[in-house]
Amino acid sequence: MKKILLTKILTACIILKSLVATGQVQDLKMNAIQLSCKVSPDGQFSYKINYKDKSVLLNSSIGFELSKPKVILDRFDVLKIDSSSYDQIWAPIWGEEDSIRNHYKELVYHLRDKGTSKIEIDIIFRVFEDGIGLRYAFPKQTGLDYFIVQNELTSFHLGKDHTAFWIPGDFDTNEYLYNTTKLSQVDALKAAAKEKDIAVTALVNDHTIQSPLMLKTGDGLYINIHEAALLNYPAMHLGLNKNTFELNTVLVPDAVGNKAYLHTGDVTPWRTILVSDKATDMIASKTILNLNEPSKLSQTDWIKPQKFMGVWWEMHINKADWKLSTGKHGARTENVKRYIDFASQHKFDGVLVEGWNEGWEDWFGNWKEDVFDFVTPYKDYNVKDLSAYAKSKGIKLIMHHETSGAVTNYERWMDSAYRFMIAHDMNTVKTGYVGKIIPRGEHHDGQWMVNHYTRVAKKTSEYKIMVAAHEPVHPTGLHRTFPNWLANEAARGAEFNNAPTLGIPPEHNTILPFTRLMGGPMDYTPGLFHFNLNQFDTSRNQKVLSTLTKQLALYLIMYSPLQMAADLPENYEAHMDAFQFIKNVPVNWSTTKVIEAEPGEFVTIARKKKDRQDWYLGAITDEKSRQLVLNLNFLEKGATYVAKIYRDGPSAAFDKNQTDYIIEEKTVNANTVLNIPIARGGGVAIEFLYKSK
Ligand code: NOJ
Ligand code: CA
Repeated sequence: MKKILLTKILTACIILKSLVATGQVQDLKMNAIQLSCKVSPDGQFSYKINYKDKSVLLNSSIGFELSKPKVILDRFDVLKIDSSSYDQIWAPIWGEEDSIRNHYKELVYHLRDKGTSKIEIDIIFRVFEDGIGLRYAFPKQTGLDYFIVQNELTSFHLGKDHTAFWIPGDFDTNEYLYNTTKLSQVDALKAAAKEKDIAVTALVNDHTIQSPLMLKTGDGLYINIHEAALLNYPAMHLGLNKNTFELNTVLVPDAVGNKAYLHTGDVTPWRTILVSDKATDMIASKTILNLNEPSKLSQTDWIKPQKFMGVWWEMHINKADWKLSTGKHGARTENVKRYIDFASQHKFDGVLVEGWNEGWEDWFGNWKEDVFDFVTPYKDYNVKDLSAYAKSKGIKLIMHHETSGAVTNYERWMDSAYRFMIAHDMNTVKTGYVGKIIPRGEHHDGQWMVNHYTRVAKKTSEYKIMVAAHEPVHPTGLHRTFPNWLANEAARGAEFNNAPTLGIPPEHNTILPFTRLMGGPMDYTPGLFHFNLNQFDTSRNQKVLSTLTKQLALYLIMYSPLQMAADLPENYEAHMDAFQFIKNVPVNWSTTKVIEAEPGEFVTIARKKKDRQDWYLGAITDEKSRQLVLNLNFLEKGATYVAKIYRDGPSAAFDKNQTDYIIEEKTVNANTVLNIPIARGGGVAIEFLYKSK
C-alpha cells in the first residue's frame, strides 16, 4: 500500500517573542474559527473560542494541581510565545479516505509558575478549519523530574444550556445508552440507574459525563468535545457545572487516588473542541486523527481490512455456550467447521471463535487473577485440525482473548499467546476486558490500563497481529499511530440487542457517529437478520430494535475496517437476497461523503470503494419514519450506475415486520434524485455499481 502520498510543509514560520506583556490578547484564526488567549495581570491564563460571530467557549482555564511536588499551577509568567503553521497531505494505510489534509496554525505558550515552584509548562494550541486541539508539554528543566498529577485544570466554558448527547461518567465502562437532554437536565446517576445490564460500573457523580460529548447550541452550532492521542495518561471525563455551564476535566484515578505519573519531557493528550454550523462536518472531521502521530511501522502490507463471521451470537442468544460443562459448547470442532464452510462459500476473510479455551467455567465475577492462559484449548476444540481446515478454505481463524479484567495475568501470557496464534496461522485477535481490573483498584480508563492497551497494540504489531479490543477506554484516533489496532468496541454495540432491560433503541445508532466514532472505528458487529431473540429459548423477550435493511445500512454508518456479519449462518440462509449486500460491501474506502446527519435523528453516508468506481450508501433514522430525498450528485458526472436498493417494505418498522424489505434495481447517474421511504427505526442500503461512462 502507498504509505505517503504527498508530504509537504507549505508554510512554516516561527515568530519568537520574549517575555510577553500580560493582559495582551493573542488571536489565531483559521477560516470561521477564532482562538483568543490571554493572561490576566495576576497571571491567570484563559482561552476562548468563537465560530464566525458566535461564541463556542467563553474564557476557559488551563493548569494543573500536582500532588508531588505539592503545587497548584494556575498563575503564570509568559516566557515566550512561538507560532507556526503546517499544511500536509498524508495517506492512511486503510480508512475512509485515500488522503487526508492536516492543516493547522499552532501557538505555543511557554509558561512558568508565578509562585515559588517556578515549574515550566508549555501549552500548545492547534487551530484547524473545524476545531481546536490543545495539550500540555512539560519541558526538561532543573527543579522538576518525575511528578504526579492530581488534577488537570483545563475547562471548557460553554456558558449556555445547550442540547447534549451524553452518557454517564464512569471510570470502568462506556457501554451506556446515549441520553439527549439540555445540559441543565443532565443527571448521570439517574440515567445510569435505568441500566441493569452493564457488567462493571464505577460512576462518578450526578454531573460527570463522558467524552466524546456532542452538543447542539440554540444558535445552530454543533460542538464536539473529546481528546486525541490518549497515551500514558488517564482518560478525560467532563464534570458539568449546571450554573455556569462550564465543563471541568475529570481524570480517572488509579488505585491509590493519583491520576498520572509523568516525567519531564512528557506531553498530555490533546483536548479537542470541534465546531461547525453543519452537523455533517462533525462526522467528517479528521482533526482528531491529525492530532495523532504517524505510524512508525516500516512494513504494513500484513495489515488488512477484513470481514468476518463468528461462533459468537449463538452463545449470546442461548443456542450454545462458551462453557464446556453446560453440554452445549459452541466452539466444537465440527461447529466451527460449519462456520468456516459458510464463511468460505461467501468469501469472508475470517471466523472468530469464542469459548475455545479453558477457563470459561469460572471466568466472571470473582475478581480472580488466574482465569485463562490463552493457549489451552478445550478438549473438543481441535486447534491444529481447524487451522489446517481454515487454511484449506481460504479463511483465517480470529483469536479471542477474553481477559475477564485480569490484565496482570494476560500480560504474563501475552507473548506465549501471540506465538500460539502465529503457530496456528492466526493474525487477528479480539481482546476483551469484562470484569473488574487486576491490578485491583485500577479502572478500565486509568493511566495503567491506557498503557496496557497501547502495550497490546505495540506487541501485537511485533508479531504482525491485528487487534480489536472490547471494553477498552474510549478511542482517540490512535489507529493512525498503530494501524494494526483496527477497531474497538468501547460503546454500546450490537451485543446489547440481547440485553434484557433497554436493548438498542433506534436513536442510539444516530448518536454513535457523533460520539463514540469520533475517536475511531467501532467493532459494532452489525448484520442481525433474526429479530426476536427467543429463537432457541422461548423464555426470552429481547428483540433487535431495527429493521433488516437498517442492519445493512449500519455497515456504512458504523465505520470499521473490521466488519462482522454477526448472525448465524441459518439466519442468513433465510434471507440470502439481502445477505448479498453484506457479502458485497467493502471495508476499505477511497472517499467518504456524509450526505446528511442530525444527532439523534438521522445519518446518511456514501463511500467509494477503494480502487474502484463503485459507491455504497447507508441511511438510518431514529424511531420516526422518513422520506429520504437523495441527490446522487456525489457520483461521477456523465457515468451510469446500476443502483441496487435494499429498503424497508411498507409494513416494516423496528418493532414489527422487521423482515419486510424490498430489493430493487434502477439505472441512475449524478443527476438522479431518489425518493426512498425509511420505516420507523429503519434504514436503506444501496450499492451503486459503475456501468459505463
Ligand atoms: C463482551 C464482548 O463485547 C462480547 O463480544 C463477548 O462475546 C463477551 N464479552 C465474552 O467475551
Ligand atoms: Ca462489550
